[in-house]
Amino acid sequence: MPSTTEQTIYLSDYKEFSHFIDGVELTFQLSPTKTRVKSKIHFRPNPKAPEQAFFLHGEHLKLISAHIDGVKISPTLTETGLTAEVPNGPFIFEAEVEISPETNTALEGLYMSNGMYCTQCEAEGFRKITYYPDRPDVMATFKVRVESALPVLLSNGNSGTSDEGFAEWHDPWPKPAYLFALVAGDLIAHTDSFTTKSGKDVALNIYVRPGDEDKCAFGMGALKRSMRWDEDVYGREYDLDIFNIVAVDDFNMGAMENKGLNIFNSSCVLASPETSTDANFERIEGIIAHEYFHNWTGNRITCRDWFQLCLKEGLTVFRDQQFTGDMRSHAVKRIDDVITLRARQFREDNGPLAHPVRPESFVEINNFYTATVYDKGAEVIGMLKRLVGDENYKRALDLYFGRHDGDAATIDDWLKVFEDTTGRDLTQFSKWYSQAGTPRLSVTDEFSDGTYILHFKQATPPTPGQPVKDPRVIPIAVGLLNPNGDEVRETCILEMTEAEQSFRFTGLSTKPIPSILRAFSAPVILERQSSTKERAFLLAHDTDPFNKWEAGRALAKETLVAMLTADAPVNSDFLDALAAVLRDENLDPAFQALALALPSQDDIAQTLFDVGVTPDPMAIYTALETLSQSIAQHLQDLLPRIYAANHVEGPFSSEAAPAGKRALQGAVLGLISRLDGGDQARAQYTAADNMTQQLQALACLLRIDRGQTELASFETQWAQDRLVMDKWFGLQSGLAAPQKAAAITETLTKHAAFDWKNPNRFRAALGGLTANTAGFHAADGAGYKLVADWLIKLDAANPQTTARMSTAFDSWRRYDAGRQGQMIEQLKRIQATPNLSRDTHEMVTRILGSDA
Ligand code: PHE
Ligand code: ZN
Repeated sequence: MPSTTEQTIYLSDYKEFSHFIDGVELTFQLSPTKTRVKSKIHFRPNPKAPEQAFFLHGEHLKLISAHIDGVKISPTLTETGLTAEVPNGPFIFEAEVEISPETNTALEGLYMSNGMYCTQCEAEGFRKITYYPDRPDVMATFKVRVESALPVLLSNGNSGTSDEGFAEWHDPWPKPAYLFALVAGDLIAHTDSFTTKSGKDVALNIYVRPGDEDKCAFGMGALKRSMRWDEDVYGREYDLDIFNIVAVDDFNMGAMENKGLNIFNSSCVLASPETSTDANFERIEGIIAHEYFHNWTGNRITCRDWFQLCLKEGLTVFRDQQFTGDMRSHAVKRIDDVITLRARQFREDNGPLAHPVRPESFVEINNFYTATVYDKGAEVIGMLKRLVGDENYKRALDLYFGRHDGDAATIDDWLKVFEDTTGRDLTQFSKWYSQAGTPRLSVTDEFSDGTYILHFKQATPPTPGQPVKDPRVIPIAVGLLNPNGDEVRETCILEMTEAEQSFRFTGLSTKPIPSILRAFSAPVILERQSSTKERAFLLAHDTDPFNKWEAGRALAKETLVAMLTADAPVNSDFLDALAAVLRDENLDPAFQALALALPSQDDIAQTLFDVGVTPDPMAIYTALETLSQSIAQHLQDLLPRIYAANHVEGPFSSEAAPAGKRALQGAVLGLISRLDGGDQARAQYTAADNMTQQLQALACLLRIDRGQTELASFETQWAQDRLVMDKWFGLQSGLAAPQKAAAITETLTKHAAFDWKNPNRFRAALGGLTANTAGFHAADGAGYKLVADWLIKLDAANPQTTARMSTAFDSWRRYDAGRQGQMIEQLKRIQATPNLSRDTHEMVTRILGSDA
């Protein structure tokens, strides 16, 4: 049983808090194990709130004293908070509590990382700092005084008085407690400034540990681009005198949008060409944008309760995706996003953890920061935009910001804004928020007398707690091509609302080739029987870049499935189609690189499972190896030429064009390595002056089971760089040959640099293994056991990261009885651990479901 009582929270139980807060004053006297937090909170009764006892959240706090209107009180304390008798009118509540940041390994509340104090309050961490109504609909202005001998003392808002030993901060914008932040440390600032459209100067700082100051410039540029973009595209300006970012090494997530004081996992902000890959640069730019965009979508307009999490996260992901598309390439970004969506969200939505974008109940809210809330939440907004059109989307967003600025809002408020803007009834659309599961969309077609008809059917499989699903409204973007490759019908949006529905196109001279679900216009699984010929045609001719890529992906999948289920040889049409893509000099190298990449092992496993075949992880691994080898051989004359043609001259630039060339070079190098035993990769490794190419080369070598020399020299070269060493750990467990993966990972966990309490390092080593599908699922069960051992160990220190990583086991139902038994055994062993956290207990219980 879990240590803290497990209680399910329901959306339907929402009720307003008893009071409003007219202001909060906090004083922190920092000390590693005895930090004192003094609070002064101005409460005023909320006349609309239902009758309730006065209750403040508080966990793991040592109450020193409490006062109401200056009179000492003795409140009733429980494990979760405090109740007290309070006056009928307004009153001032004061408390002094003691907390111990140094021993806080959960990294929630106030904790320490390398001698630096920092906070993480979303979702419910503020209650570990002091007694407070720790819920997003209670908003207040904060004044904060930090007392410490450390040189840099930060909190939210604008800075006030400061001197040796203290600093004061005032945040004029009312905010919920989850946006509170405090940082104190020996830090160095990379400084810049930004002038808003209306002429306001904003001081910008990125604070890092000494030694990291040369890795801030890219992040700063990304921040300024984000600020400009939000003004240009959404008309949103920044609203304080200062915007601070702090990099911290120990962090459970990517980053946090605390008002005016964003706190970042150092892996999501520090960047340099020598230490960061192109993918890192893009991700850092996207996350900086994401956190910055939260200032309007999340902070100025926040969530009424945590069931509305997608209100801020889905919208902010959608916005950061738009931003990255604008900065780089829309086509490439869309393909990348769909790959991620399928890998994470589809997996979640088709397994025991499936839940609606707006869940209706939870035990631990930290378990709902999921791919569904974030990524499907963003897809839902993309669909809404497609349905109402760009102009209406813009008008609706203006109305949203105008109507709800300063509010703690709901998804219903959000939808109402679109209804009011367009007059459209969004009742059916709202099912995207309330019903879980990935719809299956099947399609057949017919042609006669110049009329082409597409017949669609939709069905969504049952998910936990939701056996029956209603038809959704699905925007299906369709274009039609002539057999000669011309587009005879431009993209249009078919609005499907029924379980079965047909759409006709008239006036066509020949039977067209349809391009369906262009740009991946809805998060569904499209089931369409189609010939290899037609797929190859679309890969060659589709004018929609997503569907062009998708045609190649479908070919790859079909070939793999045929190899696995029918002992079929590699489909040579697929190989020819790939050669054509590589030869096409009009294509973006980044696109070509994506076209060369094969579906993941996990993707194939799910695909097989979907068609009723029990996946064999080792067979999938072998099939992918065979296919890669065939591609390498088939393209061997082309590869050296493409490799050379995409060489980037001159100083390193992280922009999309050179990054795309490096991506293509990397994909090609992977194939070349299968032919030359790694010679070219070794040469690239030696010559590399940037991490992208160094790591590519090392990965190519590891994939062919070489590279031990390079691995050792890499370690010597980068031993002092934490983030690069994470890559070193992750690459080994992630790319180890299946039979050795668990053993290699176990050796890594014995390495002197394996600091298991650091989430990045833990995720690198153990997450590498869980992402190594055939290695994790090795038949002897060693992968399962090793991961479970470490999850049990980590849970006692850090529940949040443990719970998140336990999702590695959520695919157990796909596999054979032997593997199922082993996975269930490990899940039950985790579940039975004494004092297991509520976080992990909820996750493994949901993963096991009722039939394990
Ligand atoms: N709100 C953060 C984001 O999406 C994520 C986060 C959640 C960080 C919870 C920490 C804790 O930007
Ligand atoms: Zn976010």
